[in-house]
Amino acid sequence: MQFFLLLLFYGLEAVLLELPAHGSNTKYLYESLNMQLPEKVIDFSVNINPLGAPKVLKEKWDDWFFTINDYPDPYASPLMKQLTEQENIPISHLLVGNGAAEIITLIARYLAGSKVAVIHPAFSEYAIACNNENCEVVQIVLSEPGWNLDVVKLETKLQEVEAIFLCNPNNPTGIRYEQEVIKSFIDACKRTHTLCIIDEAFYDFVPEPVTFIKKVLYQEHVLIIRSLTKMYSIAGLRLGFLAGNPTLLQKIGKTKPHWSVNALAMRAGIACLQDKSHPVKTRKFIKTERTTIFQKLKQLGFEHSISQLNFYLLRDPGLSTQKRLFHYLLERGFVLRHTENFPGIEGKWLRVAIKQPEANKKLLEALAAWKQEK
Ligand SMILES: Cc1ncc(COP(=O)(O)O)c(C=O)c1O
Repeated sequence: MQFFLLLLFYGLEAVLLELPAHGSNTKYLYESLNMQLPEKVIDFSVNINPLGAPKVLKEKWDDWFFTINDYPDPYASPLMKQLTEQENIPISHLLVGNGAAEIITLIARYLAGSKVAVIHPAFSEYAIACNNENCEVVQIVLSEPGWNLDVVKLETKLQEVEAIFLCNPNNPTGIRYEQEVIKSFIDACKRTHTLCIIDEAFYDFVPEPVTFIKKVLYQEHVLIIRSLTKMYSIAGLRLGFLAGNPTLLQKIGKTKPHWSVNALAMRAGIACLQDKSHPVKTRKFIKTERTTIFQKLKQLGFEHSISQLNFYLLRDPGLSTQKRLFHYLLERGFVLRHTENFPGIEGKWLRVAIKQPEANKKLLEALAAWKQEK
């Protein structure tokens, strides 16, 4: 088993030398594949809100210009106040960061040298950050097409590790686990004294969002990661936070750089959180687009994950790996997210973001052309 896990890990590293480990920044993908960058590119590899940022950010931007002269509030106090009101949990249970990515790095640093599990498929940063901190990373790979989480089976594995990462709702599948499953996962972690880290970066894209953030008030072994960069389309500004018990957060936050959250991100974060209509509009938009896209994909003979989010996994069932389709689309300027570095998926699917209707339509046309030509 250990040999298999090692093989899995080193195999992935070899792939990562070629392909970028994340979506977005498309020019690096073309460079890594030694491909000519087409004149027009549509980026389906980045999974942020296709409606963009709330309008208020553009309206206020000039007013916020003065904030760049001085150092930002190291405690992010006004933003913390907004968060505490929104989540209805005390400030002592919150830690803000320069994106959820910084939070993940801080957690990994806190876990340095320990044995940590990651439930896959999942966002690659958990394993990358933990490996950087000399953790022993155990990859627990769920099986497609449902990627079901069997907590009873998992419990023996939990006994072997000090912490476990779960991405719910899940990137890259877009699947959300049932509330009962998450509850029993949290309970199992408690029984086995395992730190239970749940990444809810995409929780607010689901038609009826469910969060487990309140668990941190009375379950000391639970950490909830959140990101504002996805729903509010502020990936370039960077903003995320962690909820957990105050003693643990103090330890995790110890190595956070003093001014890691910049002044513009703080202002923008407050304005985003105050705009209650943006997530509602987004969820409605995504649901409509997703239904249309899934119907069309079925007609064209493609398979997709049963996603509830703003992205989904796609495959042509006629191919064992999707490499040829991936390249076909890249040549035509459609950049999908490769899945080579997602254990359990490794190229068998492609991840696709839901974008504006015109872009989605163009991609569906390209997929129809692929079916005709291949
Ligand atoms: C599941 C998940 N968590 C966290 C992050 C990092 O988010 P942020 O932009 O807030 O650093 C990402 C980014 O893709 C993600 O997919």
